[in-house]
Amino acid sequence: MEDLKYDGTERLAVDYVEGILQPKPTCDTWDQIWNFQARPDDLLISTYPKAGTTWTQEIVDLIQNEGDIDRSQRAPTHERFPFIEWKIPGMESGLEQANAMPSPRILKTHLPIHLLPPSFLEKNCKIIYVARNPKDSMVSYYHFHRMNKGLPAPGTWEEYFESFLAGDVCWGSWYEHVKGWWDAKDQHRILYLFYEDMKRNPKHEILKLAEFTGKSLDDKVLDKIVHYSSFDVMKQNPMANYTSIPAPFMNHSISPFMRKGAVGDWKNHFTVAQNERFDEDHKRKMTDTTLTSHIRFL
Ligand code: A3P
Repeated sequence: MEDLKYDGTERLAVDYVEGILQPKPTCDTWDQIWNFQARPDDLLISTYPKAGTTWTQEIVDLIQNEGDIDRSQRAPTHERFPFIEWKIPGMESGLEQANAMPSPRILKTHLPIHLLPPSFLEKNCKIIYVARNPKDSMVSYYHFHRMNKGLPAPGTWEEYFESFLAGDVCWGSWYEHVKGWWDAKDQHRILYLFYEDMKRNPKHEILKLAEFTGKSLDDKVLDKIVHYSSFDVMKQNPMANYTSIPAPFMNHSISPFMRKGAVGDWKNHFTVAQNERFDEDHKRKMTDTTLTSHIRFL
């Protein structure tokens, strides 16, 4: 696999890292990923897939560049923010990108906290975690699987629904992910945000991000950041909408990366029976956390 130049025409194979499903190239290079050396001034953006990672990356970049879009549009998302565990044969890996990048770096991960390379916490790096309600996460992830050859084929919606509930999807169980990071947030420099809050009052959440990253911005700049990080503007921005990835890897005609950007789209996908089953399962898996009341489905 390592030696093959991946041309995107076939899907990546998957395997497990400590019980967490991952694309096989990530499993094959796991030792290097685990031993990744963070720098104290790294800023890490961590999410379960489809929680609004790209949106948060765009906001943080605009904050750091004080709303200067010429600078935030210097390169596509996947080049501006190394995705540390990402590896596609024949292409520069997230680790290689990160190691070559001068500080200060903004890095991305989808790893659950127990698989986070230890140096991030040892170096006391600032970490932004974003959670999104699991019903919308599931729907968004399903469509992302359909268009992205870096992930396994999702099967039918019914099959995918079961895989997601079982946590048998890449990066594992949504529940273990959001709860693990929630439990860690008070012991480390972690700002824990919610996609639904970002939708409801983007300026308020952008202010939190600015404060956390040590930037003081005037109101005009904040409004500019709200504008340039809005769904409609990002959807048209080739540096933020993933259209720079060649079509054999990500086929936006199957489902665009910037798909709907809404809260509650699950209602267009879940049957009544699936919703009942989901709610019962959700209740059971959320009994042991104070996170429950923060998860909003609409
Ligand atoms: P949908 O598929 O529900 O539309 P990630 O970046 O973690 O992969 O998350 C992608 C999801 O975030 C997609 O959700 C995408 O549309 C949404 N998204 C991206 N930019 C957004 C923005 N500016 N506002 C709201 N949602 C956004």
